[in-house]
Amino acid sequence: MDFKTHSTGVNGLAGVAADALLVLVTGTRVAQDLERPLADVLAAAVKDGDFEFKAGQTLYAHRVAGVKTARVVFAYLADGSAKAMRKAVGAGLASVKGTGARHLAIAQAGGDAWSGECGEALVAAVSEAVYLYRETKPSAPAASKLATVSVVCARGDTAALSAGLRRGQAIAAGTALARECANRPANHCTPSFLAAQARQLGKSFGLKVEVLERKDCEKLGMGSFLAVAQGSEQAPKFIVARWQGAAKGDAPVVLVGKGITFDTGGISLKPAAEMDEMKFDMGGAASVLGTLRAVAQAQAKVNLVGIIPACENMPSGRAIKPGDVVTSLSGQTIEILNTDAEGRLILCDALTYAERFKPAVVVDVATLTGACVIALGHHRSGLFSADDALAAELLAAGEQALDPAWRMPLDEEYDEALKSNFADMANVGPRAGGSITAAMFLKRFTGKLRWAHLDIAGTAWKSGAAKGATGRPVGLLTHFVLGRAK
Ligand code: BES
Ligand code: MN
Ligand code: ZN
Repeated sequence: MDFKTHSTGVNGLAGVAADALLVLVTGTRVAQDLERPLADVLAAAVKDGDFEFKAGQTLYAHRVAGVKTARVVFAYLADGSAKAMRKAVGAGLASVKGTGARHLAIAQAGGDAWSGECGEALVAAVSEAVYLYRETKPSAPAASKLATVSVVCARGDTAALSAGLRRGQAIAAGTALARECANRPANHCTPSFLAAQARQLGKSFGLKVEVLERKDCEKLGMGSFLAVAQGSEQAPKFIVARWQGAAKGDAPVVLVGKGITFDTGGISLKPAAEMDEMKFDMGGAASVLGTLRAVAQAQAKVNLVGIIPACENMPSGRAIKPGDVVTSLSGQTIEILNTDAEGRLILCDALTYAERFKPAVVVDVATLTGACVIALGHHRSGLFSADDALAAELLAAGEQALDPAWRMPLDEEYDEALKSNFADMANVGPRAGGSITAAMFLKRFTGKLRWAHLDIAGTAWKSGAAKGATGRPVGLLTHFVLGRAK
């Protein structure tokens, strides 16, 4: 989809040439803020009790006399914030996306001039609304016909808006890629599929992609990653993708994404209810691919490395058993008390591997613990870092992207829980504070790295009627990486 700015012509909003016009209304001064035929329609609807001046309200009108666009949608915009913009555009899109409209114009009445942040939020809302999973559902409704969105600006400088639209499009494309990968069922989205996706990204966007096979990982000594992979018939893939947007010697940002393409729990088998949702357990990996795409599309002057350990967690005659002790790439040994705490087992080797890039910072992203969902629900991702400056940077990126996180603790007292009589550490502690002990486990593999961990178990997908991947936290990560660009 293409987003562009459009200045109102001499005929005003009524003369805009498009298939549909979305008018975002702020305040109640309709007569002053909106021109005649449109103002009359809205005023009549208010009088009839069909439209109220409050967030979430929309009104659809077809073939309004004196208005060029066949379809007009009004949506109430609460204020000038990016968040309100995303909500209003999302609400308005509901009555446009299923129509034959190919070209949508979006205008404001009564609001502030367009900011870059609002432009970015507008793109996010439109892209989110038109995304539809189709790959394995031939009966899915036809894809949206919407191809062009023009943002109508009556006044002011459009440079900031244009930049916001461009940034929004890069993030939207990355988010859509992450959603699509995560939505695919585990018999389609295998470790090999993720590797192929990375290679394809590499070709299209000029990334260097390397995929380590099982034997490569054996040679390196990734005993922890391979222990999880050993129960599955699917070949594990350790994917490394690099974007070089800055000088060669510039220390890269390294993103590590959990790529469990299906998590049965292994021998510590999960209950059957909702186990299908464990196809989303590669949401961290998907968000790393999406962020690579967004950063490359934005041609950001920054070096970025994405590392994705990908495998399945299956029970079988070859699978790891509770009590097994494995040796990680770092040399530290791990007693696997619960085979369902597999995410940390693949991430720890990836974190050790990350050291070779001499990173400026490392951020891992993982659907790591059910405990994080209990702590934070589905709105904010869990952020763990011992580095205050890095934590602040990531939290700010989350706010800017409307993809928020919340900081969780990492006091050394929590480390006690990981004591083992048979190895350097156990892979689980007691139930209490489960998302924190998981993070403490990872911390043992980060040495002197500047490191942060995002637990996206509650934010990577939605359950219930709206079941599907969200593409989070591509927005947060992209803002974070772009913020570090030259
Ligand atoms: N992938 C799960 C975490 C998860 C569970 C995410 C439910 C979203 C919803 C992870 O591998 C896991 O199974 N974690 C265990 C850890 C426990 C055994 C210490 C959990 O959270 O139950
Ligand atoms: Mn698990
Ligand atoms: Zn898992």
